[in-house]
Amino acid sequence: MCGIVGYIGEKDVTDILISGLKRLEYRGYDSAGVAVYDGENINVVKTKGRLSVLEEKVMDTPLKGKVGIGHTRWATHGEPSDINAHPHLNKDGSLAVVHNGIIENYLELKNWLKGLGYEFISDTDTEVISHLLDYYYEGDVLQAVLKLVSRIEGSYALGVLSKNEPDKIVAVRKDSPLIVGLGEGENLIASDIPALLPYTRNVVIMADRDIAVLTKDRVTFYDYYGREIEKPVTHIDWDISAAEKGGYRHFMLKEINEQPRAIRDTLRGRITEDGFHLDDISLDEGYIKGLKSIQIVACGTAYHAGLVAKEFYERYIKIPTVTDIASEFRYRDPLVDKNVLTIVISQSGETADTIAAIREAKSKGSKVFAITNVLGSTVARESDYVLYTWAGPEIAVASTKAYITQLAALYMLGGYIGLKRGTLDMKFVRELQAELTAIPDKVQKILDEQDRIQRIADEHYNVKDVFYLGRGLDYAVSMEGSLKLKEVSYIHSEAYPAGELKHGTLALVEDGTLIIAVATQKALYEKTLSNIEETKTRGGYIITVTKGDNEIFNDASDEMIMLPTASDYIMPIITVVPLQLLAYYMAVARGCDVDKPRNLAKSVTVE
Ligand code: F6R
Repeated sequence: MCGIVGYIGEKDVTDILISGLKRLEYRGYDSAGVAVYDGENINVVKTKGRLSVLEEKVMDTPLKGKVGIGHTRWATHGEPSDINAHPHLNKDGSLAVVHNGIIENYLELKNWLKGLGYEFISDTDTEVISHLLDYYYEGDVLQAVLKLVSRIEGSYALGVLSKNEPDKIVAVRKDSPLIVGLGEGENLIASDIPALLPYTRNVVIMADRDIAVLTKDRVTFYDYYGREIEKPVTHIDWDISAAEKGGYRHFMLKEINEQPRAIRDTLRGRITEDGFHLDDISLDEGYIKGLKSIQIVACGTAYHAGLVAKEFYERYIKIPTVTDIASEFRYRDPLVDKNVLTIVISQSGETADTIAAIREAKSKGSKVFAITNVLGSTVARESDYVLYTWAGPEIAVASTKAYITQLAALYMLGGYIGLKRGTLDMKFVRELQAELTAIPDKVQKILDEQDRIQRIADEHYNVKDVFYLGRGLDYAVSMEGSLKLKEVSYIHSEAYPAGELKHGTLALVEDGTLIIAVATQKALYEKTLSNIEETKTRGGYIITVTKGDNEIFNDASDEMIMLPTASDYIMPIITVVPLQLLAYYMAVARGCDVDKPRNLAKSVTVE
């Protein structure tokens, strides 16, 4: 998972490439590079390290030109190094390529190319592309690309620059995202829309097996047979500021603070007099009534949203629900068929494991309902139904506003299904609608008092381990709180069903161990209290997160985080906010690179 950009026009290309890469850095940040045609040759500057290192290098070796391509990398084949950084060149440096994805048959191709005398200098799979292009190039880079795509297998978004045809960039995509930006006297490519917004709001979202040839005045699209095709133009109406920090110190904090707006946008137009209107989706009542179960599949934070939905769907919608991790789902011969609705959840819509799960579910006859944040993403295109979360672009690697909007979408879908199955009555649905509508203000209230969470974080950021405890929905949201903490602060943490602790993990609790007890489910208060006491007597320092309408945990807790009250089932959408803030402020206190945690990338397009 990497980010690629390309520009052709009248402006100085290097600045444009680097500023585009900055907006894509969330996709990978272990090395970066650019290739620019200077009127005679293609010059490449690339380096291991963050974009700032590339910027310094470019200052030392200025690149002048009006056409170029760039790349920010998250290593898959070959360690992060100057040599493995993209762009990669053919043997005489007349062709440059940037690649996001994985070429699965690269070893076979590499051996074949070596047999023809090609020398490889990097450990990447991408280098087979530059050499294959060289092999096929006979004066027409589009023709060479057409031959290339018939040989390579795997996933790829490619940008290709040719010294012999410097008036064009050729781009192609399969299973990795690629967007074309249509400007005035300039055209661009990028892995994601924010990189294009300073230049244009008119974009073409390339589909799998689309090829684009960009000149400065025109973009022409082709299929894999080389036939010209028409592509619809999408107008982006969200603002560039939505993809910038807007005064916040980090994207993560900005995105946490955007949650009231994100929820409002996700609910807008979908709560109606007679229930829930899920855009143009219409699931047949007979089909819904005939469903024997729901299968939810996702990864990471999106999986955690699915765990909350499972609790809600089984208890209230009365439909058996299994939530699976996508990378496990596809290998366990899952029991899905036409009577099981598969719901996939993915912020990026490009997560390889989730896409593979969609294909697996469909191959077994199951209909796939996607909840995703990215318009025209692979998940959106491959699913039978799509409900978008309108969180806006999420840049920080740690997912926050996507999670909360995924929950809002899952609850609306639950309400919709419950009404059609007859397991929910209108009275409950009215209450659910009111609860959902009230969430933005409740979340805002927590955000308005975030100084307190910061103070708690400042007092505890030095801890070694943190245990999150909860039961039922509280356990599901604890999983997300724990993931947030470990990924941004690098503090070891685990989430446990509160009642399970005594079956082993309690052995780890000692003097000063930080325990975050999540207790928002009234029926479970007393049980959770007993578990809190069990950790307290072993020296645990207890921070209890609960609703502001009880005092039951006061004595057992060292610190309380009181939440605005709501029905029990809606509490995860509120509870996650202080957990996100705690993770954020702990990470800041520890001096971590919050928006780009080590070893991670935003969009995981490898399996
Ligand atoms: C954690 C995080 C990841 C993603 C996961 C799935 O903060 O962001 O765990 O949730 O990689 O990504 P999507 O939702 O894009 O499929």
